[in-house]
Amino acid sequence: MLAGKKILLGVCGSIAAYKAALLVRLLVKQGAEVRVILTPSALEFITPLTLATLSKNPVLTQFVKDETGLWNNHVELGLWADAFVVAPLSANTLAKMANGQCDNLLLAAYLSARCPVLVAPAMDLDMWQHEATQQNVKKIEKWGATLISPEHGELASGLIGTGRMAEPEQIVTAVTRLFKPGPLTGKHALVTAGPTYEALDPVRFIGNHSTGKMGYAIAELLARHGASVTLVSGPTHLPTPTGVAIERVTSAEEMFLASTRHFSKADITVFSAAVADYKPAQVARQKIKKGNSISFELVKTHDIAAELGKQKRPNQLTVGFALETENELEHAQLKLKSKNFDLIVLNSLNDAGAGFGHDTNKITVVDKNLKIQEFNLKSKKEVASDLVTLIIEYLHA
Ligand SMILES: Cc1cc2nc3c(=O)[nH]c(=O)nc-3n(C[C@H](O)[C@H](O)[C@H](O)COP(=O)(O)O)c2cc1C
Repeated sequence: MLAGKKILLGVCGSIAAYKAALLVRLLVKQGAEVRVILTPSALEFITPLTLATLSKNPVLTQFVKDETGLWNNHVELGLWADAFVVAPLSANTLAKMANGQCDNLLLAAYLSARCPVLVAPAMDLDMWQHEATQQNVKKIEKWGATLISPEHGELASGLIGTGRMAEPEQIVTAVTRLFKPGPLTGKHALVTAGPTYEALDPVRFIGNHSTGKMGYAIAELLARHGASVTLVSGPTHLPTPTGVAIERVTSAEEMFLASTRHFSKADITVFSAAVADYKPAQVARQKIKKGNSISFELVKTHDIAAELGKQKRPNQLTVGFALETENELEHAQLKLKSKNFDLIVLNSLNDAGAGFGHDTNKITVVDKNLKIQEFNLKSKKEVASDLVTLIIEYLHA
């Protein structure tokens, strides 16, 4: 899959550096030519001998090779590579990348690289969650780097949380995806996912039970088929899907603004977010004190799908979701028309295992010619796969 491809692998000072050995082996097995750069602190975690043996190339660690004045040309390395993968990426190197710092060979190669850059962070959960780290990730993603999200699980510290480096197999999949055009290569996709929270006061909100799992799975699959995907997500606990640019929002208003910004260039839009239909007319500035009873005036939020449906060009494909509890098909068909969707995905809360909170879903898809396709109860990942297959068929019909 990677025959003839030149992969530059940067390894940072993280306990996950041991996984770099397997990563090099897998890349070489796929036919790639691999050159490895270690940061000076990575040398404390893994030996150049291991990586040089596996990559069949000398491992580079310093700007200057030896006392003769020979040097490792970082510009040449940056231009040589078809892809630059930094795995594991430490919090420290991430911060330096996000600030254009350049005090080691890996960072100089990053600044010089013209090829796609993929990063697989590895760090303890609190380091990963820290706002500084999250802002740094956003910065380098904005500049084009693809994030291979860290996974949830037991960390080297013994704590449990998100921060483990993605498995080498997953990193190789992300690299091969770069070179394999998919049926959606060249297409832009916008996916909305998750709930929205409508503030009542500084500490309380009106929300719903959406987890975002369905939309995240769809976003990941669209990216896997080659689309360049933007995920506008309400509050969720899910990691960013591999290869997807995420914009996190909280309220329906923020989701409307973010979606509107991305919609005009989207060839495919999937509205899977559970957007609040109403929000409090007033947001109290101070925490509302406890009383005997309380009432709120609610006002309508933007109907994002309907408003963007009016701006839709003929070559844009839009997919909506309908979660219904009664007269399901009839309501879904009405929604399909009123929001100008090409496809609507119906899930009924009357079907066991469907809808919010489950890892499964049972869907019926109606297209704008009112053709109805029913699917069995499946995992949300399988449902996403059925749906993305339908989208691809629809686009190519
Ligand atoms: C045992 C040990 C494990 C570490 N693991 C990580 C890690 O997984 N992720 C991380 O960001 N930093 C980790 N650090 C801290 C980094 O090694 C440190 O920030 C270093 O300066 C990173 O340098 P580099 O980014 O130039 O490779 C660890 C440190 C030690 C001593």
